[in-house]
Amino acid sequence: MSIKISPSVLTSDFLSLKDDIKKLEVAGTDMLHLDVMDGIFVPNISFGVPVIKSIKKHSTVPLDVHLMIDRPHRYIKEFAEFADVLGFHYEAGSDVAMTLKEIRNLGCKSCLTIKPCTEPEEIFEFLPLCDMVLVMSVEPGFGGQSFMPSALPKLEKLRKEIDRLGLDIDLEVDGGINRETAPLAVKAGANVLVAGNYVFSAEDMSAVIKEIKNLK
Ligand code: DX5
Ligand code: ZN
Repeated sequence: MSIKISPSVLTSDFLSLKDDIKKLEVAGTDMLHLDVMDGIFVPNISFGVPVIKSIKKHSTVPLDVHLMIDRPHRYIKEFAEFADVLGFHYEAGSDVAMTLKEIRNLGCKSCLTIKPCTEPEEIFEFLPLCDMVLVMSVEPGFGGQSFMPSALPKLEKLRKEIDRLGLDIDLEVDGGINRETAPLAVKAGANVLVAGNYVFSAEDMSAVIKEIKNLK
């Protein structure tokens, strides 16, 4: 399975976002990971629909939108207009099956996300409704945190169940991905890697993107 990278723009300088997006695209990024935070579900506020709408105008790669908002079903329609993959948290207080179905009905790929406190078995029943599953390897809310190794057995269990069910689901990991942790996540079964600080603090963004995509 080829490894895809979805750089998180959360830690970039938003005023140079247009140039950064171009650089990421030239470097061969597969997607752009956009972190939406509401200050309620997570203790931080980032950006919402208007910013994603502008990014959509200027990007040629799929937008991977990670909603960290309370009761996300209230905003699915708005985000679905610009997202390609639309993900929300299992813990955020929406009806999980209904929200996943709505995302697909609106023409987006659906993604169900779990926080470090959630066991993978809790979401097994929803896998047939998911195009992607996202395992958080940090507490959601901030970029630049350290990778939690407890994410690794979760990725393993999810990959095993996805294979057992014969489903075609991307398994994404988000938080603290760098040169050391990326190979561990891939070995555990992840095939989509989010990276924020690692990509944006690199002197050579393109080298970092290639390095991750070449993992096996
Ligand atoms: C955290 C966000 C992440 C974050 C990743 O809540 O979901 O996408 O920006 O940043 P790094 O790679 O720096 O941990
Ligand atoms: Zn994220």
